[in-house]
Amino acid sequence: MTQIKAKYLKDYLSPAFTITHLDLSFDLAGPNTQVTAKSQVVRHDDEQTTLVLDGDSMKLISVKINGAEVNYTQGETTLTIEADLNAFELEIVNQLDPEANSSLEGLYMSDGAYCTQCEAEGFRRITYFLDRPDVLAIYSVRIEADKVAFPYLLSNGNFMDQGDLEGGRHFVQWQDPFPKPAYLFALVAGDFDLLEDEFITRSKRPVKLQVFVDKGNLHKSHHAMASLKKSMAWDESRFDLEYDLDIYMIVAVDFFNMGAMENKGLNVFNTKYVLADIDSATDDDYHGIEAVVGHEYFHNWTGNRVTCRDWFQLSLKEGLTVFRDQEFSSDLGSRAVNRIHAIKVIKNQQFAEDSGPMAHPIRPESVIEMNNFYTVTVYNKGAEVIRMMHTLLGESGFQAGMKLYFERHDGQAVTCDDFTAAMQDASSVDLSQFILWYSQSGTPIVSVKERYDEQKAQYSLLIEQFTPATADQTEKAALHIPFDLELISPNGDSMLTEVLNVKSASEEFVFDNIAHKPTPSLLQNFSAPVKLDFDYSVEQLVHLMRFASSEVARWEASVALFSQSIWANVENLNAKQAMHVDLRLTDAYRGILLSESLDPALVAEILTFPSVSALIEQVSSVELDILATARDFVIEELASACEDELLTRYRELVNIDSSAARSLKNACLLLLQRVSDQHQDHAKLQYELAVNMTDSLGALQALNGAESALRSELMADYETKWLETPLVMDKWLTLQATLGADTCLERLEALTEHASFSFSNPNRVRSLVGAFAAANLVQFHRHDGKGYDFLTDTIIKLNKLNPQVAARLITPLIQFKKFDIHRQNLMKASLARILALPELSSDLYEKVSKALDC
Ligand code: TRP
Ligand code: ZN
Repeated sequence: MTQIKAKYLKDYLSPAFTITHLDLSFDLAGPNTQVTAKSQVVRHDDEQTTLVLDGDSMKLISVKINGAEVNYTQGETTLTIEADLNAFELEIVNQLDPEANSSLEGLYMSDGAYCTQCEAEGFRRITYFLDRPDVLAIYSVRIEADKVAFPYLLSNGNFMDQGDLEGGRHFVQWQDPFPKPAYLFALVAGDFDLLEDEFITRSKRPVKLQVFVDKGNLHKSHHAMASLKKSMAWDESRFDLEYDLDIYMIVAVDFFNMGAMENKGLNVFNTKYVLADIDSATDDDYHGIEAVVGHEYFHNWTGNRVTCRDWFQLSLKEGLTVFRDQEFSSDLGSRAVNRIHAIKVIKNQQFAEDSGPMAHPIRPESVIEMNNFYTVTVYNKGAEVIRMMHTLLGESGFQAGMKLYFERHDGQAVTCDDFTAAMQDASSVDLSQFILWYSQSGTPIVSVKERYDEQKAQYSLLIEQFTPATADQTEKAALHIPFDLELISPNGDSMLTEVLNVKSASEEFVFDNIAHKPTPSLLQNFSAPVKLDFDYSVEQLVHLMRFASSEVARWEASVALFSQSIWANVENLNAKQAMHVDLRLTDAYRGILLSESLDPALVAEILTFPSVSALIEQVSSVELDILATARDFVIEELASACEDELLTRYRELVNIDSSAARSLKNACLLLLQRVSDQHQDHAKLQYELAVNMTDSLGALQALNGAESALRSELMADYETKWLETPLVMDKWLTLQATLGADTCLERLEALTEHASFSFSNPNRVRSLVGAFAAANLVQFHRHDGKGYDFLTDTIIKLNKLNPQVAARLITPLIQFKKFDIHRQNLMKASLARILALPELSSDLYEKVSKALDC
């Protein structure tokens, strides 16, 4: 059993011993797999005479120092060795059973291949080691296995040697010249199809590129390879960063806890972020692959060459690398649409995390289970913090900061403060107040009031900030907020754009020579991750939707307009009054729909109503049933009012082969289903004629709002067609899990027995159970509590099988504060059931105990 105890950032101590070189030898032999680890240990602090190594779930065979057996003490997760020496060689031999490892951490098997996942603390399940990111060693790795079953034996760095051995076995030797922390170690052994290519770097060095996929999937590996080459070229042109080894390998595995992992020179990917062809992958899948391939590649500099001193600094690499992958996607595709997607993650998910029991700053101060801190706060809010620095410094100041960061810290394990210091020193922008974003959790509320003095031609904004207390922190200080602003004249001209530096609790900004009362476009481009509170009138929002220079601001205005209408109807329902939708809203909606000049992908974003989860984040408590009714009403009213326009636009787009056109077409198709069943024919035809997965899935999603004979027919057709292709069946599982009908849950219970479902594969679990809990709010929050029971039963099954996945699934259950007392009590009862489990994982314990506040 794992010890359940928090670790604190304030307790950080640099290591008394370090390991400079590690020779690893793997004898891959099923349950008798043997690992020999030879470490060159160096002592930094002579006072220390005992070496304490991390280790978990292994069978220890022997421990030697300089060739001689030594005494040691084995704890539950430690190995303590007497070592009063300044430098020595430590040899540890242990045994593993990778097939029995269902946690997918350490060395495990995925579909007959051996693979590893070491971040954050998985290396300690492979051998006893100083498993902390500030211990950087040079690795050389020998892998030995059966030659027929495991023709490819891969590890980090450069290939050194290979040879045949007795008994049908063979070996390969690898050497990674760059010192790295243990979390970046990787090993893969298996049989794959291999796609090869080459990239010539800016300084004319050839790099061999390899993508390994399950047999039979070679034709689905090309997009990942193309994405890799684009990533390498982009990092050279935008960030001046070149690749540093002779080879770059990507291996796709179906059993994987997250998206992908940036192990040095040998990335391991979830198949979801590698495999794609036109028949089986949607446009979103293609974009996701490009983004994740980019993300892992960009880690080579921001994560691997410069890594984290300790795990509290995770955002040092993740926030920065998410920022970089967002910029990559934006430079290659639509900047506005990419920005909108990033904003939605913050507003729909990160704000919820901030207001729930797991609230933490982007640099957490205490952690029980590190795996629980790979969060939207550390990753996505972390990226927003980097983006704010980019806004404050400008592109050239920011790039100067990056350059100085690498000059100072290449090859080191550093802190977030080291990063901000480089940014400040290179640009001379004062970041002394700004760095509070790293240590303060919670979502600031920025309230704005406008004043206009016609006589003086003076416009002013009073900007106030307030951060409510969070579960982890009560005292909050004023933050340095870059506040992007545009003032738009009554006839739609841009009068001024400026980024204001908001630094105190209350500040007034005065603008002179403003001849007419402007409409303010506030917090443009979501220039800071805060909640904006400004009492926009309908006229102002409609004006912004038409005239804001920023496409993102137009989208924001539409979200505000829809949200206002939905909340107004919530009030109507509560007052037992008739619901209605303002004509000005209908007109604005129609205007967007018919706009020839706007990017169709942006129109699709505007026509997609704020999700229930986004709406919940706008209020402090919610009556879910009323909110859902009001939201449905507004959608149906607008769709009905624009039925002809939706149909016309749909027809215009049917045969246009671009992802932007397809996204708008599918948005129109979905809205048409809200108007009447008569439009089912369009969905049927689209499904039957589809030549790509985006169109097939678009048709099924449009029909997913309710049960119907057509839906059943097409779902059955899809199932027959794709039964043998797990990733494609994941989409089917998600459609079942997000069905907008009261029959949804009974189906899900039956579907856990379906041949395409398995509790041991995280992709399957996320597609069915995860999607239900996170994306089918109305059904998950059923009044009878059966939605909670279903999630809870799944979590209990996964507690021992795969604690990481179990703990990720629990998020919707711990964010109960905004719901009514009846639902809160049901959710708490479910959490209590989990807390009472006999061998509760530290992952679940941390979240459940915080949620129940014990
Ligand atoms: N470092 C990985 C990334 O962001 C994340 C990751 C992959 C991970 N697998 C993991 C984190 C397992 C924790 C556990 O690219
Ligand atoms: Zn990452």
